[in-house]
Amino acid sequence: MKREKVLSITSPTRQQPYLAVDIHTFRNATRDIGFDVYLKLSEDNFAHIFSRVTGLDYKRLAQYISKGIKELYIHPEDEAVYKAFTTATAESIFNDPNTSAEKKIATLLNMTEQNMAELFTLINVDEETAVKSQKVVRSYVALLSENPKSLAIILKLVSHGEYLYYHSIAAAIFSMFIARATGQFKQKFLEIVGMGGFLHDIGCTHIPKEILLNSHELTASQWREIRQHPKVGLQMIEKTPHVPDEVRYIVYQHHEQMNGLGYPNGLLGPAIYYPARIVALADSFSALISLRPFRAAYTVEQAVKIIQSEEGKFDPDLVKILPSIFLRPSSEQKAA
Ligand SMILES: [Fe+2]
Repeated sequence: MKREKVLSITSPTRQQPYLAVDIHTFRNATRDIGFDVYLKLSEDNFAHIFSRVTGLDYKRLAQYISKGIKELYIHPEDEAVYKAFTTATAESIFNDPNTSAEKKIATLLNMTEQNMAELFTLINVDEETAVKSQKVVRSYVALLSENPKSLAIILKLVSHGEYLYYHSIAAAIFSMFIARATGQFKQKFLEIVGMGGFLHDIGCTHIPKEILLNSHELTASQWREIRQHPKVGLQMIEKTPHVPDEVRYIVYQHHEQMNGLGYPNGLLGPAIYYPARIVALADSFSALISLRPFRAAYTVEQAVKIIQSEEGKFDPDLVKILPSIFLRPSSEQKAA
C-alpha cells in the first residue's frame, strides 16, 4: 500500500485492542465524528487517519473504500460515541421532523461532498473540469437549500435511498463533463445542464424503493409506474424557486431517445432539447458504472462500449466524444 498521509502511527495496548468497525458506516456520515479512527497497517501498527477534532476526510475515505478496505478501527473507550454516530445516519436525520433545517442542510452538503469524492476515485478525468463541476454542484445544492420548498425536494432525493442521491450527483457531474467536451464553456449552460442532471430523476422519489431496486424483473404495471417519473418530476419542480425552465425541459425529456423509442412522448432526435440529450447520456453512463442490486458495476471501458453499441438511442455526436472524456490515460500511466 502507498504510504498514507496519517496523523500518527500507534499501537494498541494488550489490554485494550482497537475495535474493528465497518468502513461503510462512514458513508454518507456527517464530517463531524467526535472520535478518532485508525487504519490497520499491521498487527501492531495502526495509523491515526481521522481525528475527533478535524473530522472525516471524504476524499481519503473514498480512496480507502475503493482500495477494498473493509474495516477501520476505533478506540474501545469511544464505542458508545461510535454507536450514537451510527444511529444518526443521514437518512434518519432527513426523516426526523425534529431535526433543524440547519442540521439537515449541513448533512446534505456533507453528503454531497462525500458522493463527489467517491465519484472521482472511480473515474479518471480532466482535473480542471472536475474542480469546476464540483464547484457548480456545491453552489446549486447550497442555493436550492436556501429555500424551504426546493430544500424539501432535494431532501426527498437523499432520503429515497443511497443510490438515488449518488446517481443524481454523478449525472450532474458527467453532464457537465460532456457539455464541456462539446466546447460549451458558458457558465450558465453548465449550470443548467448540471442542475438538470442533478434533478433529472427527482420523479423517482415517488416510485417505491422495492421497484427501483428491482428494475430488472418488473411487471407491466410497475414499468408503467416507472415511465411516469419524468412527468412526475416535472410536476414536482414546476413552481420550485431557483429551478430554471431549461431544467424542467431536461427533467421531462431525459428518457426520450433519438430514434423516437423513448418516453414520455417518443420525440424524434431534432425535437429533443439538446441539454436533455446530454443528460440522457450522462444518466446512462452513471447507471452503468454503478453497482446495482441486480448486477455488478461495469467498468468505465465497458460502459463506453455498451453505449456505443446502443445505436439510435443517444445523440451520435455526443457518443463520439465519450472516449475522450472517460478513457483518458491515468496520471500514473502518463508519467511512466
Ligand atoms: Fe430517469
